[in-house]
Amino acid sequence: MIVQIIRPQDGLPRATGASLHALANAIWPPEPGKSVPTLDEALAAWKQQESVHFVIGDDDTVLAHALIFRREVSTLQGALMVGALATVCVHPGHRGQGWGADVVRAAFDYLPRLGAEVSLFQTGVPRFYEKLGARLVTNRFVNGKNPDDLNNPFWDTCEMIYPAAFDWPDGQIDLNGPGY
Ligand SMILES: CC(C)(COP(=O)(O)OP(=O)(O)OC[C@H]1O[C@@H](n2cnc3c(N)ncnc32)[C@H](O)[C@@H]1OP(=O)(O)O)[C@@H](O)C(=O)NCCC(=O)NCCS
Repeated sequence: MIVQIIRPQDGLPRATGASLHALANAIWPPEPGKSVPTLDEALAAWKQQESVHFVIGDDDTVLAHALIFRREVSTLQGALMVGALATVCVHPGHRGQGWGADVVRAAFDYLPRLGAEVSLFQTGVPRFYEKLGARLVTNRFVNGKNPDDLNNPFWDTCEMIYPAAFDWPDGQIDLNGPGY
């Protein structure tokens, strides 16, 4: 399936952003008592972090999506640029036909254009990513920009890197920002 790449300099069209926002909120509904970012807040966040979006869709309707952006993390071996993969989702009516794999592969293929050799991300579906050549990592993650909170800034069940063969450092990793 053709994957459309929407780069920051192109800007995410509002209709595409609205469709993605609706899909993501349907798949990850807000916890009771918590608010979700409005469409304008989501668009502003994607713009601010210079997300590159990988989309399979139909007119302005997003049916499969992944995004990736640059994040410099701090490891015990020094600073490391990673491709931060996030918001990987396929419309429930279109799963099981390879579209999730297509958008994630396209995002991983984009890593050199981000100046990164490795992607770091959280997930609850590690087997899906292992099939694509990723592997689990077990570092302690913190957000040094929020030193009062020593909890893992990621909230999903596991963290992974791609490619599996990357020489990933041991020890604490400072995400230098919130989880994604
Ligand atoms: C996970 C998700 C993106 C997969 O999308 P999809 O289009 O159905 O997956 P694909 O058809 O591309 O599957 C590719 C391969 O991964 C496997 N796979 C798909 N979902 C899987 C899962 N949850 N667990 C294990 N393997 C999975 C498929 O069986 C297929 O294997 P094959 O190559 O041996 O046939 C989709 O189910 C989804 O949107 N889930 C809800 C949101 C989510 O969990 N996103 C990931 C957040 S990190």
